[in-house]
Amino acid sequence: MPYKLLPIFKKELINNKYFIITFSDYEMADQCHPGQFFRLKNPQQNFPILPRPFSVNNIQDKQTSFLIKIVGESTKNLFETKIGENISLHGPLGNGFKIARNKKVLIVSGGIGYAPFPFLLKKLEKAKDEIVFFHGGKSSDDIFSANVINFTEDGSVGKKGLVTDGVEQFLQKNQVDIVYACGPQIMLKKLTEICKQFNVDLQVSLETIMACGIGVCCGCAIRIVENGKMVYKKVCKDGPVFDGYTVVWDE
Ligand SMILES: Cc1cc2nc3c(=O)[nH]c(=O)nc-3n(C[C@H](O)[C@H](O)[C@H](O)COP(=O)(O)OP(=O)(O)OC[C@H]3O[C@@H](n4cnc5c(N)ncnc54)[C@H](O)[C@@H]3O)c2cc1C
Ligand code: FES
Repeated sequence: MPYKLLPIFKKELINNKYFIITFSDYEMADQCHPGQFFRLKNPQQNFPILPRPFSVNNIQDKQTSFLIKIVGESTKNLFETKIGENISLHGPLGNGFKIARNKKVLIVSGGIGYAPFPFLLKKLEKAKDEIVFFHGGKSSDDIFSANVINFTEDGSVGKKGLVTDGVEQFLQKNQVDIVYACGPQIMLKKLTEICKQFNVDLQVSLETIMACGIGVCCGCAIRIVENGKMVYKKVCKDGPVFDGYTVVWDE
């Protein structure tokens, strides 16, 4: 889990809510597994003190990208950091997704939950999986690719409605072996109910609020049912990817 100080190599504004920053470092690119994350911080920034977690969005030509949604001070600061300026990176952290081979796979993302999937998609394609990708957002601002099946709540792009409704309809007509998902808890909870109904394996990546990021503070603890018992697990260390059926979802 090394720390590195790297200059921003590329920065791409998607719209006023999202941007992508890219770092060019061979060692970093070689170490990453889909679903893992890094903690990022501009070392010039005094507040917030702690680096923030971001999933590896993609790796292309040994360059590592992060897709970031501007929500608060750190993400605003990362957005304002210029190409060539240094960012401190801590990672890769966490377990990442288990890669299925020769399976029928469904990827489901909601909003910024899209972030880890371009990288996972590449690995699943290499593993000869048959892949369908559903993504949902509130409006056209939350859509990242025309090459996936998009849903928007306002109907501005793709199909109108919730991505989970699309998944349910899809599973009624199609057999799938495994679902990979990342998005708001409410979406993941609903998805777990749907997958149970159709007896499909489910891996979920959780985006809880984190502090230390290395398993020390318990700030990211969630409840899991393991061998019939409820136990606490740390999203930063034991996750962020969990078997969806074991997660105790908040009411
Ligand atoms: C494993 C993991 C991977 C992540 N990957 C990405 C990613 O690829 N791209 C991305 O944009 N974001 C990702 N996030 C979320 C990201 O870490 C937060 O958005 C970021 O920490 C916000 O920092 P901030 O200082 O800008 O905002 P803050 O001022 O800290 O927060 C602004 C608002 O967002 C809320 N918030 C903060 N963190 C989270 C969170 N994790 N979930 C829900 N609400 C939150 C706060 O409660 C507050 O209301 C990930 C989180 C985790 C745990
Ligand atoms: S963030 Fe501290 S234990 Fe996970």
